[in-house]
Amino acid sequence: MDLDLTYPAVSDLRRKARARIPHFAFEYLDSGTGRELQVARNRDALDAVMFLPDILPGKVAPDLSVRFMGRDYARPFGIAPLGMSGLMWPGAERMLARHAAEARIPYGMSTVATRLPEEIGPMAGDMGWFQLYCPADTGIRQDILRRVRAAGFETLVLTVDVPDDSRRERQRRAKLTLPPKITPRVVWEVLTHPEWSLRTLAIGSPRLRLPESYLDSSKAMSSLAHAGHVIRGTPDWEMLDTLRREWDGPLIVKGVMCPNAAKRLVAAGVDAIWVSNHGGRQFEPGPAAITELPKVREAVGPDVPLVFDSGVSSGMDVLRALALGADFVMLGRAWHYAVGALGDKGPAHLHHILSDDMVLNMAQMGAHRLDDVPGRLVAPRLQSPV
Ligand code: LAC
Repeated sequence: MDLDLTYPAVSDLRRKARARIPHFAFEYLDSGTGRELQVARNRDALDAVMFLPDILPGKVAPDLSVRFMGRDYARPFGIAPLGMSGLMWPGAERMLARHAAEARIPYGMSTVATRLPEEIGPMAGDMGWFQLYCPADTGIRQDILRRVRAAGFETLVLTVDVPDDSRRERQRRAKLTLPPKITPRVVWEVLTHPEWSLRTLAIGSPRLRLPESYLDSSKAMSSLAHAGHVIRGTPDWEMLDTLRREWDGPLIVKGVMCPNAAKRLVAAGVDAIWVSNHGGRQFEPGPAAITELPKVREAVGPDVPLVFDSGVSSGMDVLRALALGADFVMLGRAWHYAVGALGDKGPAHLHHILSDDMVLNMAQMGAHRLDDVPGRLVAPRLQSPV
């Protein structure tokens, strides 16, 4: 099968993934919070970013590799951390970490992944970023930092846009619990998704293995909510200072939309800012992340590394975010649609979709280099100060 004819876009991967992933898991992956207005806002605002092609550029064969935070990456995009990744598709963490190492793009492993950092870190090689939900307990926090460092993760990503749960009504309606409660409905969903089910049997049940390693064994089969609360503290600025002292590698803070907060983070010694609204999963009335990106860029100046996510679903979207001030662009859902649709062939195909879309769109706009892309923006007032 020619994947490029059957699944030319992320939307095709999503459709296939939806058919292969049980409903309770797909809804976790796909949904936003509330009426999902922010998910729509992210999409609309990205679509509104237009470019004016320059003509007669000759042959355009751009180099998509970038240097970011002292490391060389083959592409300016990577794999964002996603909670319960292995529930979306059995073995997703392994497939994505291996792909990242091979393709030389970053793999963000979530604190609430279904596998342990000790297993996944070595698979990601030097491409692993570890995403931290900062536990309140000092002992647990320091132990996690020690373990992820030992597992080969050099870059730490502190997520700050989940100060509490969000209602996420679509997730609730889908009745997601971990481990899944054996209700007739869950049995039906499992039976009607045999490939997911057999692979889940083979790899072991999708549990939050890292949080669980800090629960006493009597509670080992604890609920998702319980494991989540053990692991997820309510960090404040003081905690950030502590973490900055405890982690001597690169530290990225993820979930920043506010220019003033971004400046304060830089002053606090954070190495990079990750502009994101958590893909519309947390706070529905907030603006689209792409709208805030140029404001954050303006606030922190040209030299502070900026990562972006939230709504990115094509190579063109990657170019949009780069044009508006990002140095690096991450996608979470799209990689999971890819593994849900195509298993271990998924990551390479999505990598191809994104890369080809970037190159062909750069040709349309006559951009020989990634640095030429901001100059093609239609609304120059949106341009980042470079
Ligand atoms: C979520 C958390 C786990 O978005 O990041 O579900």
